[in-house]
Amino acid sequence: MMVLRAVCFGLLVSEIGAIPALQPYASAPATAVLPSIASTSTATASSQLDQLASFALIVTTERVSNRTAQKRDGCTRNKLRVRRDWRTLSDPQRREFIDAILCLQQLPSQTPPDLAPGAKTRYDDFVATHINQTRQIHFTGTFLGWHRYFVAEFEQALRSECGYTGDYPYWNWPDDTENLEDSPIFDGSDTSFSGNGAPIPNQPPEFALTISGRPPIWLPTGSGGGCITDGPFKNYTLNLGPAGLALPGGEQASAPNPLDYNPRCLKRDLTSSILRQFSNATAVVELLLKNRIVYDFQTSMQGTPGSGGIGVHGGGHYSMGGDPGRDVFTSPGDPAFWVHHGMVDRVWWIWQSLDWGARWNAISGTGTFLNEPPSPNTTLETVVDIGFAGSGGPIAMREIMSTTAGRFAMCIFDFLLFFLSFFLSFFSWGDCCGLG
Ligand SMILES: *[C@@H]1O[C@H](CO)[C@@H](O)[C@H](O)[C@H]1NC(C)=O
Ligand SMILES: *[C@@H]1O[C@H](CO)[C@@H](O)[C@H](O)[C@H]1NC(C)=O
Ligand SMILES: *[C@@H]1O[C@H](CO)[C@@H](O)[C@H](O)[C@H]1NC(C)=O
Ligand SMILES: *[C@@H]1O[C@H](CO)[C@@H](O)[C@H](O)[C@H]1NC(C)=O
Ligand SMILES: *[C@@H]1O[C@H](CO)[C@@H](O)[C@H](O)[C@H]1NC(C)=O
Repeated sequence: MMVLRAVCFGLLVSEIGAIPALQPYASAPATAVLPSIASTSTATASSQLDQLASFALIVTTERVSNRTAQKRDGCTRNKLRVRRDWRTLSDPQRREFIDAILCLQQLPSQTPPDLAPGAKTRYDDFVATHINQTRQIHFTGTFLGWHRYFVAEFEQALRSECGYTGDYPYWNWPDDTENLEDSPIFDGSDTSFSGNGAPIPNQPPEFALTISGRPPIWLPTGSGGGCITDGPFKNYTLNLGPAGLALPGGEQASAPNPLDYNPRCLKRDLTSSILRQFSNATAVVELLLKNRIVYDFQTSMQGTPGSGGIGVHGGGHYSMGGDPGRDVFTSPGDPAFWVHHGMVDRVWWIWQSLDWGARWNAISGTGTFLNEPPSPNTTLETVVDIGFAGSGGPIAMREIMSTTAGRFAMCIFDFLLFFLSFFLSFFSWGDCCGLG
């Protein structure tokens, strides 16, 4: 590890040039030189993000390798799972992931019909659970952990029910802030998540987000607005919702029972300017470096109420636009949700890794959206569940805080940098322990 570490940082530092030195983190390898403030140059900030991710990777690898030496549990480095930037997947790898999602959209639902009459497919089980629990999993102490579990159980369903064998991908937002239409996620090709919606002439120029009686946040509409017209999800039917769908012009749409059957097309309204404003590299690095306590980190990520911002998390969701992209409840109904939340999970993992000893178990917040109505504090013993979506059942927050222990012995690595993939290829990667 010493060699890997020294070589990686040597290369990083020489590649990036002069970045202010910082050593505030207890678990930082001695040789690490990490940025202390986010660069306002997005190119430099992108390098900073790579550097922080590389640091997280090294901390994680070292932790697992230490554990292996101590034989503390069955999770060893050669069983770690890898998460990858969508851009680094080959076309066949992208296609395998998409085909596995299409497969879940063909399998029958496991949710009892009386609970969610609109849930027709296995995929819908995930959408139904998210709709059902939205008020308990956003702006709460469970936001980060619940979504980590949700994503991991989705990955597990892709593997065990649809034979997926590849790595789980994430959407590295800063790469797409200039032109979402050209993104390999949204370009409408056979290896994308389908493209933009059909353009709607004379759409109102803005839509409004309203949170709990605070002043609305007005955001621009995008270049599409209608049903998607191409790509693998062209024939996909969105069965559930809406529930709090923000419409162009400022209105909201909600079905009387969002869990009822309401088949319709997937709409998108790609809006690069939203992604550019809220999820650019500077914004991501600033989120990681400025927030030292988890309450600030998780709140800032979702958009601090009253700040007028929507955070990097909101930036990804609302830049997809359309239906369900502008519906907090129904958002997993857009298949791009899964790579977006892969990135949310990655950013949390990086933040935790910057001071692992103090942050792996950092929890703050309560069980209700912005604590309205007031509810008890979330703790490591708080139990979360994902209903009929996963096979994992109810689980204590304690078990889902670490990417390499508890429920997950997965690891959220990325191969963004060629030399890292070169060095890491000396290790063999296999199935994860802890995920079934
Ligand atoms: C791994 O073990 C080494 C040697 O005992 C120690 O210096 C290092 O801090 C440990 N790393 C982690 C991440 O615990
Ligand atoms: C959509 O359905 C049509 C008609 O059944 C079919 O020809 C086409 O191949 C389908 N497209 C995709 C991307 O599944
Ligand atoms: C990048 O994000 C920050 C924080 O959201 C924002 O203040 C800034 O204007 C963004 N940069 C661009 C070029 O939009
Ligand atoms: C709940 O958390 C808040 C903020 O961290 C803290 O001030 C308060 O004492 C906690 N309440 C209980 C009952 O632990
Ligand atoms: C919705 O949540 C309630 C309360 O936790 C639960 O009893 C019910 O089974 C959930 N419904 C679905 C569709 O998951």
